[in-house]
Amino acid sequence: MKNTPIPKVEMQHVSKSFPGVLANDCVDLKLHKGEVLALLGENGAGKTTLMNILCGLYRPDSGMIFIDGRQVEIQSPRDAQKYGIGMVHQHFKLVDSMSVLENIILGLRNEPFVLDLKRVRNRLVALAAQYHLDVDPDASVWQLSVGEQQRVEILKLLYRDAEILILDEPTAVLTPQESHELGRVVHVMKQEGKSAIFITHKMEEVMEFSDRVMVLRKGKVVAEVNTAETTPRALARMMVGREVLFQIDKKTVSPGNVVIELSHIEALGDRGLPALKDVSFQLRAGEILGVAGVAGNGQTELAEVITGLRRSTKGKLTIAGEDMTNSPPLQIIRRGVAHIPQDRTSVGAVGDLSVASNLAMKQYRSRPLSAGFFLSPKNILDFARTLIEKFHIFTPSPQTQVKFLSGGNIQKTILAREIEAAKSVLVAVYPSRGLDIGATETVHRLLVSQRDAGLGVLFFSEDLDELLHISDRIAVLFEGRIMGIFDANEVTIERLGMLMAGVCEEEGA
Ligand SMILES: Nc1ncnc2c1ncn2[C@@H]1O[C@H](COP(=O)(O)OP(=O)(O)OP(=O)(O)O)[C@@H](O)[C@H]1O
Ligand SMILES: [Mg+2]
Repeated sequence: MKNTPIPKVEMQHVSKSFPGVLANDCVDLKLHKGEVLALLGENGAGKTTLMNILCGLYRPDSGMIFIDGRQVEIQSPRDAQKYGIGMVHQHFKLVDSMSVLENIILGLRNEPFVLDLKRVRNRLVALAAQYHLDVDPDASVWQLSVGEQQRVEILKLLYRDAEILILDEPTAVLTPQESHELGRVVHVMKQEGKSAIFITHKMEEVMEFSDRVMVLRKGKVVAEVNTAETTPRALARMMVGREVLFQIDKKTVSPGNVVIELSHIEALGDRGLPALKDVSFQLRAGEILGVAGVAGNGQTELAEVITGLRRSTKGKLTIAGEDMTNSPPLQIIRRGVAHIPQDRTSVGAVGDLSVASNLAMKQYRSRPLSAGFFLSPKNILDFARTLIEKFHIFTPSPQTQVKFLSGGNIQKTILAREIEAAKSVLVAVYPSRGLDIGATETVHRLLVSQRDAGLGVLFFSEDLDELLHISDRIAVLFEGRIMGIFDANEVTIERLGMLMAGVCEEEGA
């Protein structure tokens, strides 16, 4: 056996419990210099908790942490910074109204009292070039895309000389192109001798980015393997504890009436620029219309126009034959249209309310959750329990506040509420984001069963495999325009990919 070097980081027998859950159960973790460790596990397995302990946000109930072989106490993110540990959280913590440069400066410790702005800027620009993290130091954060904001977060850590970078589901919010670029950044970091812990639900990324994989299940380490010695299928099995089939039975149904029709719809984006241009299509009952496209090409705006959250500046929206152009959201909800939004934290769920209240939010006006003017707490709880079971939401109880759930379980709560509330149309924007593979399979099955039950489903995704797998037809969105609508059985991945990149066919087909 080779002489094993002292690990950069070692966690020994770390445990952490919350009311009703043992989130980390005697976890051992080692990370070497220049190594990338992928942390895998189902939603609620304890990945974020373990990393929050390492970056000083949570104190463990028991266990020890060593950096370069020396035992340390990490009591705060400041302590973590002192030991060279930095974390990019799934929900970024930048200040929107400030510039990139100002965000980098914010909270710096070892700067002289009078800050030498020029020096900070020069160093920032040099770091950005070294790591291929391209951002404009003077741009305000609110103007940046999600991918750019993430680069700022990473730069902020590198500026603080982080040696150990923790990335919690960094690619869940990125376009495939941006994920690929992040892969390059991670590669440069490795070459510079930095180490990283990478949480993801995407197997291809585990294979591409990591040297080693650690799998958590219900708070415990259930497997540790070298990436080169495993396969995505084997990892999936270790995670879920059973074989994952990635298959769905989809019977053919003939679509019914038109439930939604858009004709020549135009709308502006948040920055006042045209986001939808002359969009026309029909969605029928009993079909899944997939919307393919790289995020940021009008998906959010399209979903918002249909659900009444954004005004269209031109064109017409009809729901079940009735003109609903620019009607308020509540009226559209009353027509049986449900919406799984892209942004689950600010519009999807109310963190301070219980899981049960969040689940009941769309249905409390009607029986059996209320009778006359009165809500029925018992029926609300029963309703919640049924959904928690059906959607495998991992929560200590229906009364637990949503903010205490893991990222994937918050997503499942929104999915459960909206899929249940959909009576004629379901607008699902990236519904499987942040979900583990088992939960993704469940969501696919539920979307198909809603379609079989006669709903029209508009399904947004960037993942072409997923789109081809469950859609009946696929529309491609590029720069706010529909580039074409195809039968899912007849179109190829290559053709969709070309259209997503804005390449039109020459034949004029
Ligand atoms: N602050 C908290 N208070 C109460 N419970 C918590 C808190 N943070 C996490 N938990 C619970 O700990 C468990 C593990 O959650 P954690 O966020 O670590 O899961 P995860 O593996 O990151 O899952 P996901 O893939 O969904 O992000 C969950 O049951 C969660 O509800
Ligand atoms: Mg998490």
